[in-house]
Amino acid sequence: MKSIFTPIRYLLSDDFALLLARWRTAMLARMPLFLALRRKRYTLQTDYLGTEVFGMKFPSRIGLGAGYDRNGEHINVMEATGFGFMEIGTITPKPQRGGPSPALHKLPKNRALLYCGQTESQGVERVIENIKSQNHNIIIGCNIAKNDATAPEDAPQEYLRLFRPLYQYADYFTVNICRNSSERAYVPTSREEIMAILQPLFEFRRGQNQYRPILLKISPDLSDEQIDLMTDIMIDTPLDGMVACAGTTGRYGLEESTQIIHSLGRKAGALTGAPLRERALEVVRRVHERAKGTYPIIGCGGISTADDAMAMIEAGATLVQVTTEYIYGGGKSILNMRMGLNERLRKAQQRQTNQ
Ligand SMILES: Cc1cc2nc3c(=O)[nH]c(=O)nc-3n(C[C@H](O)[C@H](O)[C@H](O)COP(=O)(O)O)c2cc1C
Repeated sequence: MKSIFTPIRYLLSDDFALLLARWRTAMLARMPLFLALRRKRYTLQTDYLGTEVFGMKFPSRIGLGAGYDRNGEHINVMEATGFGFMEIGTITPKPQRGGPSPALHKLPKNRALLYCGQTESQGVERVIENIKSQNHNIIIGCNIAKNDATAPEDAPQEYLRLFRPLYQYADYFTVNICRNSSERAYVPTSREEIMAILQPLFEFRRGQNQYRPILLKISPDLSDEQIDLMTDIMIDTPLDGMVACAGTTGRYGLEESTQIIHSLGRKAGALTGAPLRERALEVVRRVHERAKGTYPIIGCGGISTADDAMAMIEAGATLVQVTTEYIYGGGKSILNMRMGLNERLRKAQQRQTNQ
């Protein structure tokens, strides 16, 4: 219920703090001097971070995960921050409002976030305008999903409705089948449902001159059998890889934030950040082993340090993504991670040559 305190509560909320941070970077992105200074500060020379995946050269294996830049407004800033790639979205066909507010809850003692409710999107047309308006040089993944209000049986046509117009602007696609932050969760888990979404995308791609890799983003809450099924879909079809994982509906690893969690009650929402780390590693390891290391996996979930990123790579990820840590630590955190991971990869390569 709305009261005179509602606007005050909003101004004090983590939603508003994130909105301000995003607004500030969107404003600064319009200033070439700011971008040049940021690039100078954050994109130091790193010789071991780069890799080639899907026939594309990634200057760094560390990318920005979906959820920070849902509408493609911060492409230039993310490039200047030193990310090797970024995922825009989740993009929905029609605009949809986020919330209800407060939707974002910081759990700082656990370096975690809980994001609740419907995810905000300005809709695909606006996102395309945003991408076109920035002269960028960063690999862009477009993370797509149906509008929350769309019935599950109409999902396949919505994914295609996004895929077609975005095709020329995306370097790769992530098909998000893990919408679990609201009461209206959409997490299809049967082969039939998932193939109904993927098949039209494969068919459309077949008629194009340019090849765009398609990845599937999965939930950490799947059972082992379900993870195996997703992996088998990847092996049996022209799917190119996996993004593992999205946020969890579980509430584990939160002992230090119990008070906040209790005050939120049974609010539906996705938990991200450090508590997710172990589970995300397990999922990546399982997919990697079942696919015999032959498919690229983008690993995400609780990566806060260079050690975390290295552990994810050792579990089988080719690339990693960071969302929560970027919200907490900004560009400085990404710079530290990049330098640390570069050093660890250098040492790993040296060990290999010495053997
Ligand atoms: C505030 C916030 C919003 C997010 N929104 C989306 C989203 O719209 N689509 C999506 O696929 N993942 C979304 N995610 C999930 C992240 O992309 C990532 O899978 C997850 O947070 C685990 O990584 P992390 O621990 O580095 O944050 C969101 C995460 C956060 C923290």
